Amino acid sequence: MKAVIISQTHQPAEFTEAEKPVPGPGEVLVQLKAAALNHRDVFVQQGLYPGMKLPVIPGADGAGVVAELGEGVDDHWLGQEVIINCSLNWGENPHFYGPHFKILGMPDNGTFAEYLKIEARYLHPKPAHLTFEQAAALPLAGLTAWRALMTRALFRPDDKVLITGIGGGVALIALQFAVAAGAEVWVTSGSEEKLQRALALGAKGGVNYREPDWHRTLLAQTGGGRTGYFTVLIDSAAGPGFARLIDVAAPGGRIVFYGGTTGNITDVMPSKIFFKQLNIHGTTMGTGEEFAAMTRFVEANKLVPVIDAIFPLSETEQALRRMDEGKQFGKIVLAIGP
Ligand SMILES: NC(=O)c1ccc[n+]([C@@H]2O[C@H](COP(=O)([O-])OP(=O)(O)OC[C@H]3O[C@@H](n4cnc5c(N)ncnc54)[C@H](OP(=O)(O)O)[C@@H]3O)[C@@H](O)[C@H]2O)c1
Repeated sequence: MKAVIISQTHQPAEFTEAEKPVPGPGEVLVQLKAAALNHRDVFVQQGLYPGMKLPVIPGADGAGVVAELGEGVDDHWLGQEVIINCSLNWGENPHFYGPHFKILGMPDNGTFAEYLKIEARYLHPKPAHLTFEQAAALPLAGLTAWRALMTRALFRPDDKVLITGIGGGVALIALQFAVAAGAEVWVTSGSEEKLQRALALGAKGGVNYREPDWHRTLLAQTGGGRTGYFTVLIDSAAGPGFARLIDVAAPGGRIVFYGGTTGNITDVMPSKIFFKQLNIHGTTMGTGEEFAAMTRFVEANKLVPVIDAIFPLSETEQALRRMDEGKQFGKIVLAIGP
């Protein structure tokens, strides 16, 4: 089969021949129609991902058709259009994953290939209103955003939500979830164009985080006072800017973060957190139940993930470079096969 392989760090991802996998007991073979990139695929290529094991076929996100069944797998899956939950071996505890947790695409082979071998328990029917490309854009970002917003932030439709770095894959789908649920959502971005595009998706307003006093500009726009502050804040930048999130959080607000793009959190005044009774949560991926709830919400609200660009599988290296440059708005997708 055709596949993309990373054999060495800091080297271009190679589009090449690989052995077609054979499904074992409880597994299926999915003929992939589309895959999508996450920042983690760039980290893998740069050798920055924990537990690196090379060579690997990267890729956590995928959608396709079940082509073969391993022993013991229910017949109804054969020929089904599916998306794949890439959060593997979460375990029994909904609050934290178990010791065998891993994400599809490292250390095990992932979705940047014509075929993927995967346990049948990770299959979910593809939402009928989505193309394969749109469906492939959903799993990792959708699951992370769902858990961040619904489980960790305990989101309610009357929340006033701030989502930072709206160009990010997780941030953008979190915006779509919160808007579909009826909330007032504000955003930040380093790009004016991305701010405008977020408004078109239902954001009420936004500011450029490159401005030194962006938090003051934001509060001026929201009207200031108690009602101008945010009850839910979703972030993946962390770093020195995290202190500004604490400034714009409402008393009792919930700040959830899932990344550390701008490094260590610095200059946070403890008293601002305890006097405001803030709740600060980290989050990573999610459970099988959360994945199912997320796909149900997407179906019920006919949500369509935003796609930035579609590359053929043979041009995965160009797709990885686009993600590395951070110019995208929405998911970068790979079209696979005819
Ligand atoms: N814990 C988890 O389960 C999980 C899951 C997914 C991702 N992540 C992590 O989260 C991070 C983002 O992942 P992704 O796939 O969404 O990446 P991505 O699509 O490459 O998005 C990164 C975004 O970060 C934003 N950003 C950069 N500097 C910022 C700043 N100073 N303030 C606010 N936002 C800033 C940018 O937004 P603009 O383009 O709008 O400027 C950029 O688009 C990565 O570190 C990734 O590893 C973690």
